[in-house]
Amino acid sequence: MSSEVIKENDLIFLILDQKRRWLVQVRSGGTFHTHRGIIEFNEIIGKNFGSVVFSKPFETQGYKFFVLKPLPSDYILHMSRKTQIIYPEDTGLILVYSGIGPGSVIVEAGCGSGALTCILGNFVSPNGHIYSYDINEKSIKRAKLNVKKAELEDVVTIQYGDILNDDLQHKNVDVVVLDMATPWNAIEKIKNYLKYSGTVVSFSPTIEQVKKTVSAMKSQNFIEVNTYELIKRKIQVKENATRPEVRMIGHTGYLTFGRKIEDIKNPYREQKPKAKEVINMNGMPLRG
Ligand SMILES: C[S@@+](CC[C@H](N)C(=O)[O-])C[C@H]1O[C@@H](n2cnc3c(N)ncnc32)[C@H](O)[C@@H]1O
Repeated sequence: MSSEVIKENDLIFLILDQKRRWLVQVRSGGTFHTHRGIIEFNEIIGKNFGSVVFSKPFETQGYKFFVLKPLPSDYILHMSRKTQIIYPEDTGLILVYSGIGPGSVIVEAGCGSGALTCILGNFVSPNGHIYSYDINEKSIKRAKLNVKKAELEDVVTIQYGDILNDDLQHKNVDVVVLDMATPWNAIEKIKNYLKYSGTVVSFSPTIEQVKKTVSAMKSQNFIEVNTYELIKRKIQVKENATRPEVRMIGHTGYLTFGRKIEDIKNPYREQKPKAKEVINMNGMPLRG
């Protein structure tokens, strides 16, 4: 069985217990300080993911820390962020319901902290690409840092761009992902970026946004327009106390999907002559 060795600059998921867990980049000669002692990165570099290290000083601290390879969900929940991010369960639905996979080309707006961008980046690698836009320079800066930390710069381009007003000059993209306040205003424009059969997916926290987005998708002739909400419950498994946990995140947002289809009308139906109305009896039109 092969194990992956931890190298300088790798991101690790450092776990002390259920509550205390960090996404950390290891640097030669560096340290990570916790209230349960200090972790020296030199002790981690060269070990395998899945190893255990003890905090220093050993005599007074010596707590056990687990070193794991971060999962996409760890990136999302523990990365640097300022904007509202998309939660892991919602990204799972986005992936399978939009068909994102290796080689997919995606346009995204806005990038926010880049949480969703990093997840999608992991899945489109190595030959796909994500073109992610935002109108907030601070978000762009933070998202670029997160993408760099996740070592996804080869498959992600983050840049300034207004999805509502700019012509972003994309053609034949597989998926457009919208996570912004007014997605319905973007539908007409992004339709030109999508290839036929391509998917648009929009994440919105409120029903009011969903109604406008669905209406915009339908008026632009998208088909398979469907909206979903996912509710995730974590189960506490304990002797004689196995049940859903008491605290949970009650609402993340709604996901609306639509597929682009060729815009043509049935030529036979268009040509079919309308039946003539010839007799009018007591106000009731009858066909001749
Ligand atoms: C909720 S955040 C996105 C969070 C992101 N999905 C994540 O996982 O980190 C919404 C972002 O949309 C951006 N935005 C709003 N209007 C936009 C527009 N017209 N074009 C591009 N980005 C826009 C905002 O600046 C903000 O950063």
